[in-house]
Amino acid sequence: MTFDVKGKYALVTGGATGIGLAYVKELLRNGVAAVAVADLDDRKGDNAVKELNTEFGSGKAIFIKCDVTKADELTATFQKAAQTFKGLDIVINNAGILDDSRWEMEIAINVTAVARGTWLAFDIMGKNKGGRGGVVANIASILGLQAMAGCPVYVATKHAVVGLSRSFGMPYHFDRTGVKVVTMCPGVTDTPLISEAHHRQFTDDLGKECGRELDSLPKQQPENVAKGMLHIIRNGSNGSVWVSEGGQPVYEVAIPERETIRVGN
Ligand SMILES: NC(=O)c1ccc[n+]([C@@H]2O[C@H](COP(=O)([O-])OP(=O)(O)OC[C@H]3O[C@@H](n4cnc5c(N)ncnc54)[C@H](O)[C@@H]3O)[C@@H](O)[C@H]2O)c1
Repeated sequence: MTFDVKGKYALVTGGATGIGLAYVKELLRNGVAAVAVADLDDRKGDNAVKELNTEFGSGKAIFIKCDVTKADELTATFQKAAQTFKGLDIVINNAGILDDSRWEMEIAINVTAVARGTWLAFDIMGKNKGGRGGVVANIASILGLQAMAGCPVYVATKHAVVGLSRSFGMPYHFDRTGVKVVTMCPGVTDTPLISEAHHRQFTDDLGKECGRELDSLPKQQPENVAKGMLHIIRNGSNGSVWVSEGGQPVYEVAIPERETIRVGN
């Protein structure tokens, strides 16, 4: 069943810049009523929201300053967005870092906050809690589907997002809540997260290796991921996992079940 984004209300974490901001623009371009941009960086967030309201009309975007690793701030952010918009329909848990030199923080942002953001979305949007149902899109990476030597903990965090979102995307949850959960796995996309990645690893050697591996992969602009995001919010089935890479159209990934990948005797 297609999800119609027209007239809906959205919240995007890490939406002040990069791919998150591209999601916000693509949602507004396609008729979403308004978007709450939640981000740690209030300068970029304020600027982004000013530009969005100039481009799409006054009141189309609000900024909420939020460190997603702080449980109380993330909870207050979801509540503020839901109060301002009289509910929420779309949540994109996008805030993330690629920085294995701060791996505990990386886990806090990329995994813990995405889990908390998914619970909060279910609490607000769940039909079993008085909500309207809706869509949660969690952001993993192609590195949620493959190994990479240069940034092992980042890879682990993105594998966690895939498992988390596929599990929240099982019928048990949807049947009670009416909330669909999809996963976006972007390939290498031109943002500071990538251009600065080689400075942010455990050691200089690992940083070099991380840079070399990232350089070997196809590149794209954030707008391509945003187009793919619209497609999966509208058409993705509950629990589905999608890749957007190399400027190509988004495609769904078939993840083999345990029985089908048995090797050896
Ligand atoms: N750029 C890529 O190649 C790529 C590839 C695959 C996946 N991703 C994922 O896409 C998402 C967005 O990445 P991007 O490339 O746009 O990164 P980016 O660095 O350009 O933007 C990330 C945004 O998140 C915000 N943020 C960081 N920590 C935060 C915190 N604690 N609380 C709130 N906001 C915080 C930043 O202020 C920034 O606005 C991330 O989850 C990233 O892992 C990116």
